[in-house]
Amino acid sequence: MKKEIKNFLTKYLKSENEKNLKKYTLLEDAFSNEDILSALDVLLSGKITMGAITKEFENEFAKYLNVKHALMVNSGSSANLLAAFALVNPMKKNYLKKNDEFIIQALCWSTSLWPLVQAGLKPKFIDVNLDSFNVDYKEVEKNINKKTKVIMAVHVLGNSSDILKISNLCKKNNIYLIEDACESLGSKFKNKFLGTYGDFGTYSFYYSHQITSGEGGMIVCHTDEDYRLLHSLRSHGWDRGFNPKIKNQIKENTFNFINSGFNLRPLDITAAIGLNQFRRLNKFMDIRSKNRTKIIEFLKSSTKWKNQFKFFNEIKNLQPSWFGFPLMINENLLHKKEKFLNYLKKQNIETRPILSGNFMNQKSIELYGLNKAKINFKNSQTIEDRGFFIGLHINPITKSSLLNLTNHLLMIDRL
Ligand SMILES: Cc1ncc(COP(=O)(O)O)c(C=O)c1O
Repeated sequence: MKKEIKNFLTKYLKSENEKNLKKYTLLEDAFSNEDILSALDVLLSGKITMGAITKEFENEFAKYLNVKHALMVNSGSSANLLAAFALVNPMKKNYLKKNDEFIIQALCWSTSLWPLVQAGLKPKFIDVNLDSFNVDYKEVEKNINKKTKVIMAVHVLGNSSDILKISNLCKKNNIYLIEDACESLGSKFKNKFLGTYGDFGTYSFYYSHQITSGEGGMIVCHTDEDYRLLHSLRSHGWDRGFNPKIKNQIKENTFNFINSGFNLRPLDITAAIGLNQFRRLNKFMDIRSKNRTKIIEFLKSSTKWKNQFKFFNEIKNLQPSWFGFPLMINENLLHKKEKFLNYLKKQNIETRPILSGNFMNQKSIELYGLNKAKINFKNSQTIEDRGFFIGLHINPITKSSLLNLTNHLLMIDRL
């Protein structure tokens, strides 16, 4: 066993030395030594399923975000699934009925939308603001009516809407608010974390998000009742392992199936990595923010800079926790986009679209007939047409990496 591990590590270290320093991936040096050792510790303990470390992560997460409860799941999508199915569950007071409506932006992620549809609710799509990629409060206000029962606010790439106003609007009109903060862990609006304004806030720890455990997610809520509901839905509908300090607990460690349910539990291995990374979140945020400033400075101070790109800025009152670095290609260079992204790929610079672009263009929307009126969401479409993003790393960017990256980005008008 020892020899095999040694051989493995020798091979690994060799490949590390041969790393292509000119690569600019979405995420660099994903896991620290401590992350790896904490995961190994769980693996070597022989019990990797959800247990004490998951609980520890949940407690620290809730405390840091200043919310009553946090529940870890195996992905951000699962966190959204729990939020959606909690709202239509008979255990919830004033639970929602089939065909009740929800509002969501057209520039969204697949699993921001589908869990609510799968739960039987009907979407009403609205467009986003071209500068923030998020919805404007006025657009939300304009679109709510008596049928609106939920607002799904998707916080894009660390940015947000005026979530305080949206949250007040929801309270006033008895509308549930879910905040999909899967791309925005650590961002604060008016000094309060995104994800903590709504009834439910969801987070993703997928590769290249603010923190990563490979796969993983968290959902936060504010009442014991909601927590109990989420807890049972996460795990087969049972009450097992439920916190006995909370009132109305039936009996700890029994197989009482109090509800319907899924199995969306995380592994303690991912919780161990996630917890370790979570403890470094502030450091990551700081470095990402500095790297972002440097990339912009390098681009703008180059002799080749001719406003080829527009950058995206945080809205007023937001302290952002950046995820990636989105760029909007100048309109006069739009015809070069495909060639340009292929060029970046050849230079080993990884890019991604902004969310899934204008989600109305996806085949799944046609399959479910969700935009029969063929509404044109102009800004979402512009962001799909002109936008893309690159990574922001968790180590300070080196001068040579900056030069390499910005030189390639500025090739756009010469292709
Ligand atoms: C806005 C948003 N919501 C939900 C998700 C789903 O998270 P996960 O990949 O952890 O399932 C993502 C994924 O990246 C996302 O960007």
